[in-house]
Amino acid sequence: MHQQSLQQIPRLVVLISGSGSNLQALIDAITAGTIVATIELVISNKPEAMGLTRANKAGIATQVINHLEFGSREAFDRELMHAIDDKQPELVVLAGFMRIFTPELTHHFHGRMLNIHPSLLPQFKGTNTHERAIEAEVDQHGASVHFVSSELDGGPMVLQALVPVEDLDSPRVLAARVLVQEHVIYPIAIKWFCEGRLKLQNNLVLMDGHRLPVEGMKFQS
Ligand code: GAR
Repeated sequence: MHQQSLQQIPRLVVLISGSGSNLQALIDAITAGTIVATIELVISNKPEAMGLTRANKAGIATQVINHLEFGSREAFDRELMHAIDDKQPELVVLAGFMRIFTPELTHHFHGRMLNIHPSLLPQFKGTNTHERAIEAEVDQHGASVHFVSSELDGGPMVLQALVPVEDLDSPRVLAARVLVQEHVIYPIAIKWFCEGRLKLQNNLVLMDGHRLPVEGMKFQS
């Protein structure tokens, strides 16, 4: 058991850019009591992000920090860091946040920032992962939860969901199949972190004090 007293409830800040379905999965897990944590703030770099509506509906504070209003990546990241630090979160959750960070920001949140990426990393870093998986004719695709480092989509691996690619898949169909699994594995990894079971130490991922393999744990539904 990993009981948490009220004073120890982990604070989360979630960063989004779009639909926010992963944010919704996290909200649902917290509401159901599966994860004991509070979302202190949802930040979007896009004012029109649907995830902001999801947060509002759940009574969660939101903030838009529009990257277009900043003269440089450094200035945007500094503002982002201030807004996050203001909430003193134990964990920063990237949930479809589509901006590349400066090394300053990734160092600042080292070991306390998780990301979900729609591929079996290290395959298909970056964007358009489902199109590229179909073009590459892979049998297995999926999603990966990892700690964030200064290397884009290259941080230490926590958990991967394996998703089969079917013969007639379009990128949209495959994306939807992967997203279902994202909504399963991201709350699991966040729960582990919140319970103090998942840690990054000396750049190694530890689960219950044991080092994980570099490719992380595998999840197959
Ligand atoms: C998800 O598929 C997530 O893995 C991906 O964006 C989507 C966001 O969906 N993230 C990235 O590509 C980050 N590199 P959502 O807004 O519905 O959670």
